[in-house]
Amino acid sequence: MRTQVAIVGAGPAGLLLAQLLHLRGIDSIVLEAKSRQYIEQRVRAGVLEHQTVDVLNDAGAGARMMHEGLRHEGLELRFAGTSHRIDLEALTGRAVMIYGQQEIVKDLIAARVATGRPLCFEVDDVSVHDVATGAPQVRFRKDGAEHTIHCDFIAGCDGFHGICRPSMPANVLRLYERVYPFAWLGILVETPPASDEIVYANHERGFALLSMRSPTMSRLYLQCAPEEPLANWSDERLWSELQERLSTHDGFQLGRGPILQRGVTPMRSFVAEPMRYGRLFLAGDAAHIVPPTGAKGMNLAVADVYVLAQALVHHYGGGGTHLLDAYSATCLRRIWKVQRFSWWLTMLLHRFEEDNDFDRRRQLAELDYVTSSHAAAQSLAENYVGLPLGAGGERMG
Ligand code: FAD
Ligand code: PHB
Repeated sequence: MRTQVAIVGAGPAGLLLAQLLHLRGIDSIVLEAKSRQYIEQRVRAGVLEHQTVDVLNDAGAGARMMHEGLRHEGLELRFAGTSHRIDLEALTGRAVMIYGQQEIVKDLIAARVATGRPLCFEVDDVSVHDVATGAPQVRFRKDGAEHTIHCDFIAGCDGFHGICRPSMPANVLRLYERVYPFAWLGILVETPPASDEIVYANHERGFALLSMRSPTMSRLYLQCAPEEPLANWSDERLWSELQERLSTHDGFQLGRGPILQRGVTPMRSFVAEPMRYGRLFLAGDAAHIVPPTGAKGMNLAVADVYVLAQALVHHYGGGGTHLLDAYSATCLRRIWKVQRFSWWLTMLLHRFEEDNDFDRRRQLAELDYVTSSHAAAQSLAENYVGLPLGAGGERMG
């Protein structure tokens, strides 16, 4: 079989790329290792930068998001028993949207299915070949039969554990990594959120986060040991730990409810450079991971795909390869700023075992500064709502 762009992975990156290309008349085939049901149920990110909202709308996949998503104009930083509001709207003129990643995946799958173009689930043994030549191929197995896709380009949108990044020659890639000495235990709870806005709490006992998915569904996280066995956390222990870490002097009370889903997410910062080798382009988690503190993982995936789609459209429109040639540098310039922000917020909000009294006082002073200085709050807010997309930091037309 033949296509213009073979896309490996049907997460937010791969599905969005397929849709953006389709709208500009560029053909693709999307390959996904898991089942449709599995990827539609996988609970992950929930906060969308304002430009992620714009890109999904431009892709024609934003209707349900605009109807069901929750627009948030602020967030709360909670420490020393007091909440402090960061007014995103007043500080930046922008807001964020709360809408679950699996809902975006459902919407993008529906959009893809409506085009009638191929989206193959449950494929095995995907491998990429001849990417340094003008005739790359992707091979895979489906229901026991071997297939080969001949294509112009390959988009590696197969996440952190995918095969595309490791297919690039080791001497071409430079990897940058930081692993944090803790993880997040996340739960999805059927109960109205106990706060109208997302609460990030710095507490002696460790970080806690109160978020939501809908007016009746809460999403909560707490800092725990890395690879913490879930069996260590009874419902009672979870609730009392969350209550304690989120408590305030004015008597904040967390509402309880049935826990529908739970999981532990390791925390790492990771960047692979460059994001392109020959005709293979990496996008999203395949190229980089951020700790979830800044809610940036999925937003970065969307930003990469936005740049890649524009470069491919330019190329197929006869404009030459210069945007494709600039792809890696264009993305990395923004990615490193987002890496910095995610690292900074992680360091600001978590407890580190090696922290001494000085470190603790310095952390509290920084929180005090961020919540009392307009300049510092504005810096947090402009990063949180999302730095500009595209070349030179400007959103491209
Ligand atoms: P993915 O969503 O990982 O999609 C990659 C796809 O490729 C997957 O569907 C995978 O099955 C498929 N694939 C892999 N290998 C192959 C192969 N060989 N062949 C074919 N298909 C393949 N971010 C936040 O902002 N907040 C959060 O709370 C948050 N929680 C997270 C929890 C977990 C457990 C994880 C793993 C990530 C979390 N993230 C979170 C990060 C965010 O979800 C990711 O940044 C986002 O999913 C990136 O999208 P992507 O399309 O690049 O990768
Ligand atoms: C979420 O709602 O899942 C969420 C919110 C904020 C974050 C990370 C995750 O920083």
